[in-house]
Amino acid sequence: MADDGDGKLRTEEGGGAEGGGGPEEVAGSWLGGGGALDMLLSLAFVALAALLAYQLYRRWAKRSGAGGAAPASPADALPRMKRRDFTLEQLREYDGARTPRILLAVNGKVFDVTKGSKFYGPEGPYGIFAGRDASRGLATFCLDKDALRDEYDDLSDLNAVQMESVREWEMQFKEKYDYVGRLLEPSEYTDEEDTKDHTKQD
Ligand code: HEM
Repeated sequence: MADDGDGKLRTEEGGGAEGGGGPEEVAGSWLGGGGALDMLLSLAFVALAALLAYQLYRRWAKRSGAGGAAPASPADALPRMKRRDFTLEQLREYDGARTPRILLAVNGKVFDVTKGSKFYGPEGPYGIFAGRDASRGLATFCLDKDALRDEYDDLSDLNAVQMESVREWEMQFKEKYDYVGRLLEPSEYTDEEDTKDHTKQD
């Protein structure tokens, strides 16, 4: 058996050492050496070797947590949040600092933006929106601290263009993130929520 330099094995001598040869060596001797079948078998051998290597790699990757598996992010570790509605106060808890989960509201809808923690986490460029109703900031394209109101914001002073922008942002969030529930207006609070709210303000 000899290596002809292009990866194929020649078997003109016939026979050859059985132990060191591949299947092509055997086939070569049956057919009197080389030919299309020889080439085909070489390709099959290479494909088989590649498949084996890939399977080994997959097994290794699975064990070591590598191989396309994204690094564990807070969103991966958290179960999907059950649908529920929020008072402003309840929303504030989910700011990514007090809890790993990050929620924000746009146009009265609450979204779980934990998977966007690079944007909304405490160090993120849009961290100011975490746990807040982000509508006004998004509508006015402003990231200042006073771009958001501390009290419930009915957005009634925003103009048509700004309101349209709020709706567009809402669509964008709906596409990318999980919708969790509604941001309640104070008129919708239960007695318990109402009392808590007033006690806080007094
Ligand atoms: C010069 C100023 C700004 C630049 C260069 C900028 C740049 C960007 C870029 C590149 C993205 C896309 C990031 C990605 O998908 O990987 C993005 C997303 C975003 N930007 Fe800005 N931005 C600017 C100002 C603002 C302002 C003022 C606001 C809000 C008031 C804002 C709110 C957002 C939001 C909400 C997202 C979506 C993040 C997400 O996918 O959850 N940006 N910005």
